[in-house]
Amino acid sequence: MEMADKELIMISVFSREEIAKRVTELASAIDAKYGEESLVAICVLKGAFIFFSDLVRKITNPNLELDFVRLSSYGKSNTSSGHVVFSKDAETDIRGKHTLIVEDIVDSGQTMQFLCDQFKARKPKSIAIATLVDKLERRENAVRVDFPGFTLNKGFLVGYGMDYAEKYRTLPDICELRWQEN
Ligand code: IMP
Ligand code: MG
Repeated sequence: MEMADKELIMISVFSREEIAKRVTELASAIDAKYGEESLVAICVLKGAFIFFSDLVRKITNPNLELDFVRLSSYGKSNTSSGHVVFSKDAETDIRGKHTLIVEDIVDSGQTMQFLCDQFKARKPKSIAIATLVDKLERRENAVRVDFPGFTLNKGFLVGYGMDYAEKYRTLPDICELRWQEN
């Protein structure tokens, strides 16, 4: 079966209203955990950029700092392989500060394993992970997600920052892409 014989369909799985409600709940949980302690929230570009910008504006901690990383991985295209590298590292000194990684999707967990290992070596006060979607079926390691937005078993998602071949990031809902045979 050729890709050309398949039709791409998109199904909304989480609406913009559900997302807004969940992001507000996550921000409250983050405020409850850190209060006014020094906290650095680190956005994993590009996929998390919309989630990050909504989330950080709901966090009330006056000592919140923001930073950004961009990662590349070699291998399979829609998922990351075991080999992850920084294409842009964080610039903030996280030593002695609480660090919150903000990601779009944790899938196999390889990307988060890499980031946590890198950041741990910089001696932060703590490291936690907030992810918009925690996708469980392909998890390969014991990465602990502290603030999961939505939990799913599987499915390829786009929208609200997430892409397929750099497209669909600006969809307001989180949608599942499916390739349906004609
Ligand atoms: P992991 O290293 O396998 O956990 O992969 C996580 C990364 O794979 C995410 O940051 C995404 O960039 C990408 N990814 C995994 N699943 C999806 C998806 O359903 N839609 C878009 N990107 C995905
Ligand atoms: Mg990503």
